[in-house]
Amino acid sequence: MRLSVNVDHVATLRNARGGDFPCPVAAAHLCMAEGADGITVHLREARRHIRDRDLERIAAEVDCRLNFEMAATEEMVALAEKLRPPACCIVPEKRAELTTEGGLDVRNAGPFLAAAISRLSAAGIEVSLFVEPEAAALDAARALGAQAVELHTGRYADGHPGELARLQAAAAHGVGLGLHCHAGHGLTYDNTGAIAAIPDIIEVSIGHFLISTSIFEGLPTAIRRMKSIIAASRG
Ligand code: PXP
Repeated sequence: MRLSVNVDHVATLRNARGGDFPCPVAAAHLCMAEGADGITVHLREARRHIRDRDLERIAAEVDCRLNFEMAATEEMVALAEKLRPPACCIVPEKRAELTTEGGLDVRNAGPFLAAAISRLSAAGIEVSLFVEPEAAALDAARALGAQAVELHTGRYADGHPGELARLQAAAAHGVGLGLHCHAGHGLTYDNTGAIAAIPDIIEVSIGHFLISTSIFEGLPTAIRRMKSIIAASRG
């Protein structure tokens, strides 16, 4: 299972003082040096944390599987076509939200989502859709031509009963459809092991917890601890 580290909140800290420190590009290098398998960044429409230059520099300078998390807008699709990261994860985006609040409404998405998936795929990018762990959403993702889905683990992380089973069933359904299954949102040392134990899930994307806990224990320790939790659960 790959660990993709989301470094958005390094940029949040940097932006709090308007300077260059801490630098998300340097954090991405460090995560990779400590054993992360990839880096995720979400360039939001309002550029709340990651900025265009951060994304361009990570794409150019950091030897990693870059996952560019983005809304399905003309601006973001054009940028992805220019940068050609290995992977893009399409997410819903609302201006006022604190973080991505739910999965994409794939079944009711307008025609632009299908066009975005086909343009990104034509650029050689693996396209993943961030969805709720529901069979219907995965069926719709497959029908639209996505190669992967990222299953939203937010309700699981919030402790809702039955969510782990829903994630297991969704991942099995996704693999049956030929989709690569990823997972993310709200994952921590305490709840990632059970996700890593689901063999159908091949990547987790973790941001807020890893960057936050690194205040107390350092980023290298945080990455290594999370990697060892994943390895132990994977068996
Ligand atoms: N996956 C997606 C699609 C997200 O939007 C986010 C939040 O930016 C994450 C994973 C990471 O979530 P967290 O920061 O809670 O680990």
